[in-house]
Amino acid sequence: MPVRQSEFRRYLAPIDTSSIQQLFTDCLVVGSGIAGLRAAIEAAGQRNVTLICKRSLGESNTWNAQGGVATVLGSEDRIEYHIADTIKTGCGLCDRDIVELVVSRGPELIGQLAEWGTEFDRTDGKIDITLEGGHSHARVAHAHGDSTGRGIAEALIRKVQAHPRIHVLEHIFAIDLITDDENQCLGVLGFRPSTGLVILWAAGTILATGGAGRLYRETTNPEVATADGLGMAYRAGASLRDMEFMQFHPTTLYIAGASRALITETLRGEGAMLVDGNGVRFMQEYHPSGELAPRDVVSRAILDRMLKTNSTHVYLDVRHFDKAHFSKRFPTISELCESFDIDVSHDLIPVRPSAHYMIGGVKTDAAARTSIRNLYACGEVASTCLHGANRLGSNSLLEGLVFGQIAGQSALQDIRPSRDRFSAPRMEFAIPDSDRSRLDTDDVRNALRALMWRNVGITRKETHLAEAEDIIHFWQRYVMDKVFDHPFGWECQNMLTVANLMATAARRRQESRGVHFRGDYPETNNKQFGHHIELGKSLT
Ligand code: SIN
Repeated sequence: MPVRQSEFRRYLAPIDTSSIQQLFTDCLVVGSGIAGLRAAIEAAGQRNVTLICKRSLGESNTWNAQGGVATVLGSEDRIEYHIADTIKTGCGLCDRDIVELVVSRGPELIGQLAEWGTEFDRTDGKIDITLEGGHSHARVAHAHGDSTGRGIAEALIRKVQAHPRIHVLEHIFAIDLITDDENQCLGVLGFRPSTGLVILWAAGTILATGGAGRLYRETTNPEVATADGLGMAYRAGASLRDMEFMQFHPTTLYIAGASRALITETLRGEGAMLVDGNGVRFMQEYHPSGELAPRDVVSRAILDRMLKTNSTHVYLDVRHFDKAHFSKRFPTISELCESFDIDVSHDLIPVRPSAHYMIGGVKTDAAARTSIRNLYACGEVASTCLHGANRLGSNSLLEGLVFGQIAGQSALQDIRPSRDRFSAPRMEFAIPDSDRSRLDTDDVRNALRALMWRNVGITRKETHLAEAEDIIHFWQRYVMDKVFDHPFGWECQNMLTVANLMATAARRRQESRGVHFRGDYPETNNKQFGHHIELGKSLT
């Protein structure tokens, strides 16, 4: 059964090369999280690189990452243990070769980050490491307490900005990948508020656009995470894999009306307890590892507890922490709590789960190559099979770092010098006017996010997934046939496209595995579903 997408269109905007501004580069990197920044640095070793991002360089999921980056640094820890933990958490869908590749490169690349200026927290000169759920050993390195992502991003951004061969263009919205008839990527159609549409021709294009958390009403993700890279790759015909696997983070601050802020898992790693509205500590009732059970288990346990106690949230209890230590070790959370008059030495912190990390994405091989020639993907937008059906906490910054480097290396290996102004192909793509009614895209986005939370959320079932597909198709008919001239509209089109893929994949996987829990199929069914679900324009 092919994927049903209403009003599919290859490009979201009309193209006429005779009137659009055109820029040329050897290697184009789209996205400024850890993977994009690392890829740009690698590719710039030998080629001219242009890095574009839709807002400013610092607006990424990486920047917001609190807890840390997992790697083997402790004397008791071993690469084999980290590999085993990753595979165990992945519930049968990790690719062992990829896990070995990523985990074994970790210590060296983290060391390189430190050399490049990331100030990991240390004691007596040695990098501090802590514990998170699913890790058999302490191996999560952190920077500035709970601002690890920011500490890493700042160091990489400094390096990128100082590099003579990297040209950074902020505030460019990538609308679509440009491909030819030979399944080759030629660059990106973008939009700059100051000048309008622009084509960036590139010999190699690295997609590092991040995730899809903003498809959900409750999310830890920043506004930029609207699944644009996934939508673009799908329209270009790339294979996408594991789209049913959205990871929910168990603990985001829940204050009605306030945006959902992440409360790092390392807090539980260092002794924070989960209690319900009656003050009862409950995680041991759900899993022997208690608060440090895998994230999917903790998220479902919290939802169950919320139902049983008829409450909108549960609480994190950190009242036993030394207050001075707490504010030094977790400065971001301290500040956040203070801003809502929560005194962590007396008050409980209200939390509930939120969409956090898109495990599925653009299918890549071990060299970050996608199913489209000269198109590479790394970071959250990619599906490398490191995480399987459930991501081990703090493995994603590691993956972005390792696969960012690999994507840069592969682009260097493959690409030929860039096209110049005279060899760029002529292109025309016209879009007919639509006579269907216009929907308010703001309204559609909000309604879609609520629908995804309700019907394609932590617990799924056939009737809800089928209903989600139908509603998304209805919206697609009125939104996908329009021509927008602003990122807000294109984001809405990407969100609908990708939401449909997620609902379709979730409906097809009639079993429960990792982060994908089907109330109507609560068991894992290895016989029928011990494989990945791939979707794509030409795939079933
Ligand atoms: C956290 O700090 O809890 C998030 C880290 C991650 O998702 O890997």
